[in-house]
Amino acid sequence: MTSPDSETEELDEVYLHTVSIHGREFHKFSIDNQIAFEPVDDEEAERLDLQHRVFSRIFDGRLIFPPIPRLRRVLDCGYGTGSWAVDVATQYPDSRVIGLDISPHKNPDDVPENLWLQVDDLNRRFTFPSNHFDLVHSRLLATGINRARWPSYLADIKRVLKPGGWVQLVEIYFNVQSDNGSITEEHALRRWSTQFLRSYEGTKDVRIGTRLNNLLRDRGFEDIDARMIPLPLSAWSNDPRMQAIGMLNRENINNLLPSLALYPLTQISGMPQQDFQKLTTQAREEAETASLKAYFPLYVCIGRKPG
Ligand SMILES: C[S@@+](CC[C@H](N)C(=O)[O-])C[C@H]1O[C@@H](n2cnc3c(N)ncnc32)[C@H](O)[C@@H]1O
Repeated sequence: MTSPDSETEELDEVYLHTVSIHGREFHKFSIDNQIAFEPVDDEEAERLDLQHRVFSRIFDGRLIFPPIPRLRRVLDCGYGTGSWAVDVATQYPDSRVIGLDISPHKNPDDVPENLWLQVDDLNRRFTFPSNHFDLVHSRLLATGINRARWPSYLADIKRVLKPGGWVQLVEIYFNVQSDNGSITEEHALRRWSTQFLRSYEGTKDVRIGTRLNNLLRDRGFEDIDARMIPLPLSAWSNDPRMQAIGMLNRENINNLLPSLALYPLTQISGMPQQDFQKLTTQAREEAETASLKAYFPLYVCIGRKPG
């Protein structure tokens, strides 16, 4: 559906085709144009919905972090299954929410009347009017935004925000960590991380989470608040809250490890399918090994446009 707030046109058929690789469905346009390399099938949609529940738990049910007294216009960049955008549109019925994604395949069945979903490439300059949104949300776009695009992506976000409007960025850094030093170079989880990060080196900045703070500062945002939250891969923590988060995240990680790495490892880095299966099977087992205390760093950053 086309929103009255943008110049985006009706959906072109070229965005609808999918391609099957090792039993998973990918978005042909995204693959052909090196935009995004994650599956767009029902399995991935279910995983994203579960991951949204993990985030809700980590963020104690809060969808929006900055203080915004009256939320009128919201943009969700890369809405995926629309989980966040649907929740915001539902909780704030007086707001108008626009979601933008390169693939319509994971669209929700039911869309609130104040939510408009559009297909477009965030690597292209925004066509939205300037000084328009109270909030722009961008969650897990590290593997979709081109490496060289990040400065102009944030400049575009700043341009379309109203003076005093906020950006909210959330990124996982898929470099597995353990504070007790128990994950060695030989562990499958470490090899999964290294190969995943390496396969994206030519196109994307998958370490972007660690640099959001500086990027926002360089673009002239104010009141920046940046945090790192450890995202436990399973229920290893002694802290009851983190243990519950890890328990919920366990299934997400079980699906995430093969899902996110399938295209990068087998198609970009050329890993044979059998080796990929072996690596992900081992990595999944290690993710559930409590003594490894494995986590991915989750970066959350907000900033305000001066005004
Ligand atoms: C990992 S998913 C995250 C979805 C959602 N933000 C969430 O947190 O649940 C990334 C989404 O961004 C979309 N995407 C990636 N690169 C994009 C781009 N350059 N332009 C538009 N959408 C993009 C993908 O199609 C996918 O739906």
